[in-house]
Amino acid sequence: MKFAGNIEEIDISGIRKSFEGAGPGAINLGLGQPDFDTPDHIKRAAIEAIEEGFTGYTMNLGTAELRKAISEKFRRENGLDYAASEIMVTSGASEALFLAIAAVVDEGGEVLVGDPGFVSYSALTRMTRGRPVGVPLDERFHLTAGAVAERITPKTRALIVNSPNNPTGSVQTEEELQGLAQLADDHDFALISDEVYEHFVYEGAHVSPALYSDNVITINAVSKTYAMTGWRLGYLAARGEALENMLKVHQYVQACASSISQRAAMAAVSGPQEPVRIMREEFRRRRDFLVSGLRSMGIDMKEPEGAFYAFPKVGDGDEVAARLIRGGVVTVPGSAFGSRGREHIRISYAASMEDLKTALERMRDIL
Ligand SMILES: Cc1ncc(COP(=O)(O)O)c(C=O)c1O
Repeated sequence: MKFAGNIEEIDISGIRKSFEGAGPGAINLGLGQPDFDTPDHIKRAAIEAIEEGFTGYTMNLGTAELRKAISEKFRRENGLDYAASEIMVTSGASEALFLAIAAVVDEGGEVLVGDPGFVSYSALTRMTRGRPVGVPLDERFHLTAGAVAERITPKTRALIVNSPNNPTGSVQTEEELQGLAQLADDHDFALISDEVYEHFVYEGAHVSPALYSDNVITINAVSKTYAMTGWRLGYLAARGEALENMLKVHQYVQACASSISQRAAMAAVSGPQEPVRIMREEFRRRRDFLVSGLRSMGIDMKEPEGAFYAFPKVGDGDEVAARLIRGGVVTVPGSAFGSRGREHIRISYAASMEDLKTALERMRDIL
């Protein structure tokens, strides 16, 4: 069998690789998902869907009731005016990211991605025969219009913005997002806004760039917000032709998102939001604990403003992550997120206080 060159070139995710070699008692701070369970009212909605026999295909775009609920969510939480007809339900934010990139990237099309940045962006760009172009972040790990502007060429098809950010924990300001949206308008490329961590903000506020430009494709999911990563349920919103082009890809690769997960997402998006508040406050407590613990070891780090990751500078990130694994703490070397992350490690604080305490003790001995 011969394989496609662009697929052979893609590396197996550095995140997955980082778990190799972990011993049985290792504490895993490598995971990118809440350590909470899906709230009960959401589980019940899924059980009811199964019992009612709501188990067939749905419309390609997703059920009308869920898209209406998401439209209301956008209005209520983000101040965005997306009609239900401008929304598509997908199998996680992952599928939505693929659709957005596939819809705008031709062979050789360039996609601007923050370096360091979430691992999928570059890989998905290569899958569509495009070329990822890394944009260095500033000293606070923010993506600036200046750094993006320097890398725009006639081949630029998209810029991906991820705020709150994985792996750095940064949260872009309103002015920064306005500047980035302006570039998308001036140069007529897509701004793909990955907002999966929007509810985990501890400093500043989450702002959706779609407030400033119609060239924005807004991507979100119930995965992180409601501790539903295994339900594979995300969504995107876009204006006009963009949605239609993404639908062409979605209907052939996925047909529709899981009917059962759509019912669950309906309960998540339009039900009580107290579980989200509880999770956010718990993450804030853990962030404060982890940051002060790391700083007390003399580790140089910025306070993460959102998401649930710390991204301290440790020297050689690969070497430190390897040493930590041998000592029973799993983290992810920053190089997994791009060449400019190599002096860092990513530590997820979506882990219990007890695990964080033990991990800090082990780190103190190892480092
Ligand atoms: C920034 C970012 N976007 C998207 C995803 C994928 O989300 P989903 O599980 O909904 O596909 C992740 C998961 O880690 C992520 O960190």
